[in-house]
Amino acid sequence: MTFIVAIDGPAAAGKGTISKAVAAHFGFAHLDTGLLYRAVGAKTLSDIDPIEAAKTLTPADMQGDLRTPEVAQAASKVAVISEVRAALVDFQRNFAARNGGAVLDGRDIGTVICPDADVKLFVTASAEVRAERRFLELSAKEHDVTRDQVLADVIARDKRDSERKEAPLKPAGDAVTIDTSELSIEDAVAAALSVVDQARG
Ligand code: DC
Repeated sequence: MTFIVAIDGPAAAGKGTISKAVAAHFGFAHLDTGLLYRAVGAKTLSDIDPIEAAKTLTPADMQGDLRTPEVAQAASKVAVISEVRAALVDFQRNFAARNGGAVLDGRDIGTVICPDADVKLFVTASAEVRAERRFLELSAKEHDVTRDQVLADVIARDKRDSERKEAPLKPAGDAVTIDTSELSIEDAVAAALSVVDQARG
């Protein structure tokens, strides 16, 4: 049985939390596709060519702390390169087609990677709410950041991700949008589970 749930949206909108909860609830596998771009971005910080890095990516490259502001910006920069995106397509599609169901979250899952997904969600929230969440997350990990810096980073990444030519961040025409700005985690997860439940019939 294949069943594909595509979850897209901007940084820190709650995609990760919702994806993990959907995967756990239905027993599906989960792929955070942002980690692929972060792994490539992290390599460019050590002066490795991004296209080469994407073509030779291994699971080991996905280890370590890729959730830093520097790696996030580097990921967003390599993500505009079409050869980088092309090198990562097959891995994502193979993951999606696995037996037992899969949840993939990212920016272009419902639009480019899995246009025939069984369920498409677009998870979003205001830039201010997302920046506050990311600020609290980074501060808890003792990253030395200010609220203003984090908001500026979120806005810069949104702009780059949605204005790029290749696979820009945007909702698929048939995606269900969940705005988490004023939702608790429980309510956001419940909204997502109910959309998936309906599609499973
Ligand atoms: O989801 P994230 O914040 O970990 O993603 C990091 C960057 O990777 C994001 O700013 C843009 C890029 N990305 C992408 O272009 N396409 C995806 N499917 C996932 C992430």
